[in-house]
Amino acid sequence: MSLISAALKRINPSQTIAISNKARELKAAGRDVIALAAGEPDFETPDNIKEAAIKAIRDGQTRYTAVDGIPELKAAIVAKFKRENGLTYKPSQVTVGTGGKQVLFNALVATLDAGDEVIIPAPYWVSYPDIVQFCGGTPVPVETKLEDNFKLKPEMLDAAITPKTKWLIFNSPSNPTGSAYSRDEMKALTDVLMKHPHVWILTDDMYEHLVYDDFEFVTPAQVEPGLYDRTLTMNGVSKAYCMTGWRIGYAAGPEALIKAIGTLQSQSTSNPNSIAQWAAVEALNGPQDFIVANNKVFKERRDLVVSMLNQANGLTCPKPEGAFYVYPSCAGLIGKTTPAGKVIDNDETFASELLEAEGVAVVHGSAFGLGPAFRISYATSTKDLEEACLRIQRFCGSLR
Ligand SMILES: Cc1ncc(COP(=O)(O)O)c(C=O)c1O
Repeated sequence: MSLISAALKRINPSQTIAISNKARELKAAGRDVIALAAGEPDFETPDNIKEAAIKAIRDGQTRYTAVDGIPELKAAIVAKFKRENGLTYKPSQVTVGTGGKQVLFNALVATLDAGDEVIIPAPYWVSYPDIVQFCGGTPVPVETKLEDNFKLKPEMLDAAITPKTKWLIFNSPSNPTGSAYSRDEMKALTDVLMKHPHVWILTDDMYEHLVYDDFEFVTPAQVEPGLYDRTLTMNGVSKAYCMTGWRIGYAAGPEALIKAIGTLQSQSTSNPNSIAQWAAVEALNGPQDFIVANNKVFKERRDLVVSMLNQANGLTCPKPEGAFYVYPSCAGLIGKTTPAGKVIDNDETFASELLEAEGVAVVHGSAFGLGPAFRISYATSTKDLEEACLRIQRFCGSLR
């Protein structure tokens, strides 16, 4: 009898975490490595949020809480959805978990049966297909195109829906491409979804606040209120509030689904960390102006990286609306040879040779289900980014 379960054998360790670990190891061994692989802001958690956590400890907020979140945090989330998205939820329609990842995991474990299909636009965040597979569901990746800025088109969505489709997982702004859908683009997709009442929508709005050039963020249930009863709107404090380590994510949706997610959580991790919940209350209710200041820096970095990568031989880099990623295509370099004689046969080889030759860690596009391309996270110092882009230019220029 095998020790490892069939469910676990269906999934792989996160490749983005693996590459970040490899870069960290090389650095520890003395190599000059610039890691552009991690999906987290390089900014500190704001002080008012840290202070709220310290106060929570001093006030003795150190015990088990309600499994799916303290009332104060649920109230802050209800207010956030109203204020920022025009969505009205009751506290009983809100659940809080240990990061957005747990909320997503819970939602899929709570709803998927063997054979259920989940539509996932590609390139996608690495965890979506693995979690679906863990649940015995069938991921249905739908490949988007660079010419469309990696956005799903209504006809592609329509063609992917079958009677077995349970969920569409939607992620705007996107990890890994940074692409975000305008209201019109979103409406074209929600029109398709209105024709298929059996399909549920899991929208991952984790990068909501990270949009540039006055781009207006929208979420599906806001654009099409007719989808409210079958949409789980997921969000969290990890990215915009620079709180990746605190592990607080949340979602709102129909009560029955929220209750099922809570039941699952009650038998696994119980409540998310009590202190981090109080910090999240302050994040959502407190001043939001640091987000504007951070976004100014992110926008400058995005513009720098897009411009420098488009000057590299053989790379094409679209300019995305949000998040802190760019997703350049390296199709123009496939088949070329490095000075050491290695043929660049795919994007994984491109990324490993780039790391070897120039000490720049990026994540190959095939990890996200669409290559040949790679993902750069520009959530790192502007100085390092500039140096990394120069090295990438040198590496691409060295290929023959
Ligand atoms: C698209 C997307 N969704 C969800 C998450 C998970 O966020 P959290 O750190 O809150 O679990 C991430 C983190 O990388 C992400 O990129």
